[in-house]
Amino acid sequence: MLEQLAHIGRDPKTGGYVRDAWSAADLELREWFAGEAGRRGLALREDPNGNLWAWWGTPSPERPGVVTGSHLDSVRQGGAYDGPLGVVSAFAALDLLRERGVTPAVPVGVACFSDEEGARFGVPCVGSRLLTGVLPPERALALTDDDGDTLADVLKRAGREPGGLGRDDGTLAAVGTFVELHVEQGRGLVGEGRPVGVAGAIWPHGRWRFDFHGRADHAGTTRLADRDDPMLPLARMVLAAREAAERRGVVATVGKVRVSPGNANAIPGEVAAWLDARGADEEAVRALVAELSEGAQVREESWTPVVTFDPALRDRIARAAGGDTPAPILPTGAGHDAGILAAAGVPSAMLFVRNPTGVSHSPGEHAERADCEAGVVALADVLEELCR
Ligand code: GLV
Ligand code: MN
Ligand code: MN
Repeated sequence: MLEQLAHIGRDPKTGGYVRDAWSAADLELREWFAGEAGRRGLALREDPNGNLWAWWGTPSPERPGVVTGSHLDSVRQGGAYDGPLGVVSAFAALDLLRERGVTPAVPVGVACFSDEEGARFGVPCVGSRLLTGVLPPERALALTDDDGDTLADVLKRAGREPGGLGRDDGTLAAVGTFVELHVEQGRGLVGEGRPVGVAGAIWPHGRWRFDFHGRADHAGTTRLADRDDPMLPLARMVLAAREAAERRGVVATVGKVRVSPGNANAIPGEVAAWLDARGADEEAVRALVAELSEGAQVREESWTPVVTFDPALRDRIARAAGGDTPAPILPTGAGHDAGILAAAGVPSAMLFVRNPTGVSHSPGEHAERADCEAGVVALADVLEELCR
């Protein structure tokens, strides 16, 4: 299945993936998902927030299902595994359950959440945040992409009804338990010498937009003393972020900058930059952002508090996934739809598959085929345990 997806949204120059939400690549990936659901005789449904669900059995509030899956969108120039590994492993694990002759006592669902990465509109996990009501639909619809198109425009163009967005109790009530398999985005499992692990917690994390205003002018004729160059406060902020992150024991990244108008021979008039900050200690992350925000124009675009996955479910899954010795439990600095669902009170858990280099959000992201297969077996074991 990963091979079937390999060409979609791939930049031939870099080998990286660009799979923005609701782009042509995303629509093709959604079609693929529908095809895989159809081939297996699963009932396909797109909820009003654009999340896809493929059901084996019919869930109801009295008989909610065990759901597994992830997302198919990517960061820009991302890897092949972040998201898709969880979706293909979900279908493969379901196949394995059927091969084993398992008759689930509750429905089993495969989910694909919309716009997990937030590459296009800036806010991550848009599909699951809308579903659970933590992102108000008015705010989501007004988000804009780099072309100035709102999410509302983009949804209409994709033939979707923007008016349907928002908390969806009916869809949520069908999810009794959610298990997301994901490529590890670090080297914890390499250190453990194990192919599969289980998530313990997701660090609190957020994104902030900084706007710096200056005065556009000629790069050659404007004396240094006469300049108002917004690149200088940006440069100070980037260095201060690194210094504060080291001091406070967290991580901080400026990975996106917009310089206007963007002439090599002109002082820019405006600079926008996005800070991503995360860490095990929420107060330390907040303190870093407060420190950098002093005297700056800053807007919080997203914030996700710490998620501690339910310990009883986590340990049950670690036993089911681990064979003879329970799978190791690892924290992560990456955000996931499983975290959004967990925060909304849906019992949720995650499996991680070993990543030999730990590299992620980049074309270098990788998992060995044997480890992916171990992930599928572990996921099937977990689902079998949960749908008894
Ligand atoms: C999502 O992958 C994130 O952690 O940014
Ligand atoms: Mn990601
Ligand atoms: Mn992901």
